[in-house]
Parts: sequence; C-alpha cells; structure tokens
Amino acid sequence: MQYVLFLSLLALPGLLGAQSLPKVPTKPQAMRLAPSVPTPPKVVDRMLSAAQLKAGETLYDLGSGDGRVLITAAQKYGAKAVGIEISPAVAAESSKRIKDLKLDGKVRVIEGDMISVDLSQADVVTLYLLTKSNDMLRPVLEKQLKPGARVVSHDYEIRGWQPTRTETVDALKRQHQLYIYEFPVKKQ
Ligand SMILES: C[S@@+](CC[C@H](N)C(=O)[O-])C[C@H]1O[C@@H](n2cnc3c(N)ncnc32)[C@H](O)[C@@H]1O
Repeated sequence: MQYVLFLSLLALPGLLGAQSLPKVPTKPQAMRLAPSVPTPPKVVDRMLSAAQLKAGETLYDLGSGDGRVLITAAQKYGAKAVGIEISPAVAAESSKRIKDLKLDGKVRVIEGDMISVDLSQADVVTLYLLTKSNDMLRPVLEKQLKPGARVVSHDYEIRGWQPTRTETVDALKRQHQLYIYEFPVKKQ
C-alpha cells in the first residue's frame, strides 16, 4: 500500500504539469553553493567516462543546472539520472527539456537543496561547485554513499579525501581538472 502511494506521488508532477516538480524539503537557510556556470560538453563526457558510469546505474548531479550532465548520462551511457537544482526556474526549464527529449522515464529533476537529498541509491555523483561548498557536502556524502559509489568533481577538490585519480581536460581555452573518488574513500 505504501509502495502504491509512493508511486502515485511520483506520477503526480507529470499529471499536474511542469509547475509541480518533485521537491526536497529545503530549509529556510538553504544556500546557493555555486553560480550557474555550465560544464562544457567535452568535460561532461570525460566526467562520466572517468566515473565508469554503466547502463542501468543511477547518477545524481548536485546542482544540475540546464540538465546537460543528466541528459548525457541517459542518452550516451544508458544511465538513470536525477538532478537536484535549487533555482525553481532553472529546474523547470531543464525538466521541460528532458520531457521534450522524451527522457522523462529515465531522468528527473528535483527542485531543492542538495544538502537535504537522499543519495543512498546513487552509483555516481557529479559536482561542479566550489571547494567550500564541497566542504559542506562532504559529511552528507560520507554518511549516505554506498560502497562502490563514485564521485567526480569538476575543478574543485573535496578537501580531506584522497582522489583515486585526477584527469585534465582541455576545453574552452583552459584546462579543467577532474577529481575522481571511490567509496569507501581514503581520507588524507
Ligand atoms: C556551476 S553550476 C553546474 C551545473 C551543472 N551541474 C553542470 O555541471 O553543467 C551549479 C548549479 O548548482 C545550483 N545550486 C547552487 N546551490 C544549490 C543548492 N544548495 N542545491 C541545489 N542546487 C544548487 C545552481 O543554481 C547551478 O545551477
């Protein structure tokens, strides 16, 4: 019965239209943890290949912006993808794009604060935040991510964690740094 109720709640946004995105409860003090700067497509692709994202796995992009990481994860890697986005307008716009691409069976955007989200089902988490934002997110990731989960952070390291690997990607006339971590993560 609870499962049926849960499924009905998931279906509700589709019935009500784009105005009613699923939401995570967001505390009044929720902070914007990064500006709206998109990751270049070439770097998105390298982030997902560096994460060894596989078909059927679930990716979370925390601060999902225009949805480009989610869309690439679904279209190119056959993954399921969930975006968390604090800006209602950006979340609605990216949801519309996902629906127009007929990816809404595999990809969804949740409006709200990434700090409050349940990441226990994530196989891969992608980040393009700031080092201080990663500091705030680190305890959430440590508490929730399962063994085998991978985290890929664009340009900003997660202090206190030892990356499994780093990669450099040339795009838009500069070098982009990728930090790749695997759970259980090694502490520095
Ligand atoms: C640098 S952009 C990255 C967008 C996308 N992930 C990419 O790589 O192209 C960061 C995004 O995080 C969103 N954001 C900032 N603080 C947030 C928070 N507390 N919870 C959810 N999203 C947040 C911003 O609105 C913005 O869209």
